[in-house]
Amino acid sequence: MSQFSSQSFKSENYGLYRPNYPPSFFNNLIKNYHNGNDFRTALDIGCGPGEATFPLARLLHFDKVIGIDPSLRMVEAAQKSIPTEYADKIIFKQSRAESISFISNNSIDLITSAQAAHWFDHDVWFKEMARILKDNGSLIYFGYADPIIQSVDGDPSDIKGDFAKANELLLTYFYNSKYLGNYWEQPGRSIIRNLNKDIDAKIPKDLYYDFKSGRYDPIGEDKTPINDLYIWKKNLKLQDFINYFSTFSSVHKWHESHNNVLKGSKDDIVVKFTDEFKSRFGWNLDKKINVIWKSCYTMIRRIPRK
Ligand SMILES: C[S@@+](CC[C@H](N)C(=O)[O-])C[C@H]1O[C@@H](n2cnc3c(N)ncnc32)[C@H](O)[C@@H]1O
Repeated sequence: MSQFSSQSFKSENYGLYRPNYPPSFFNNLIKNYHNGNDFRTALDIGCGPGEATFPLARLLHFDKVIGIDPSLRMVEAAQKSIPTEYADKIIFKQSRAESISFISNNSIDLITSAQAAHWFDHDVWFKEMARILKDNGSLIYFGYADPIIQSVDGDPSDIKGDFAKANELLLTYFYNSKYLGNYWEQPGRSIIRNLNKDIDAKIPKDLYYDFKSGRYDPIGEDKTPINDLYIWKKNLKLQDFINYFSTFSSVHKWHESHNNVLKGSKDDIVVKFTDEFKSRFGWNLDKKINVIWKSCYTMIRRIPRK
């Protein structure tokens, strides 16, 4: 996935404007699944600026936490944010998920991958994870896609039944070929939109057992919120939502492909997107919107070696 490694990618904005993972996701779902195993060494793959890496030290108290990402910019941003009290516990290294040569066989207790596994070569990745995981060690991948606006200023009637239209507008900008549709790297985007079901289908049954998964999709098949998965939910200003939109890899690629369009000018995709909300719904940038993301997790365990 090249956009996150590009020289012009702003890893600081990524860290600031992406949804955070709530503590309950680590304290309940991950901890309960992993309980019974050691909490010595954890690895977070496709760590970005460390959103899901730091909680492994802070909340789950692993002795050692390693974050890896192929993007040097992400690794540098993550390194800069290590809190002093964890300086001897957390390290970040540049590496791809499919071949982590600096990690020895049978050495990792828990592996997480947050909003990244859809980019991997899954057949190779599952084998590499089985190499480095200890017997019964946990592999947990999770993510989110397609934000859905649920209410405005806390009042679901504020735009008088226009939610469908607001959400339609989002999806049009994200996936119509007139807008960002052709600027997503595939098949990654389709995989996460399908809430990682395609990855689950590739789990090798001779290497992993104890499969558990959860999915929440308020406008699709899986409508029931799942306690700690009911998480990527945020009340934010329209300006912050626009900032989040501007962290999309597709927006970055759009800008690269339209280097004749001045950023911030009326033809910039980010400005157009903002103006649509202002003109069609009369929202200003301070308008508070309540957004929820389709989300999913999968947890599996390494079958003990013979
Ligand atoms: C959307 S970001 C997720 C970052 C962070 N984990 C989070 O939860 O926000 C996806 C990350 O996956 C990384 N990535 C892409 N392909 C990868 C690969 N083959 N192996 C490891 N990481 C990869 C990208 O560099 C990027 O930092």
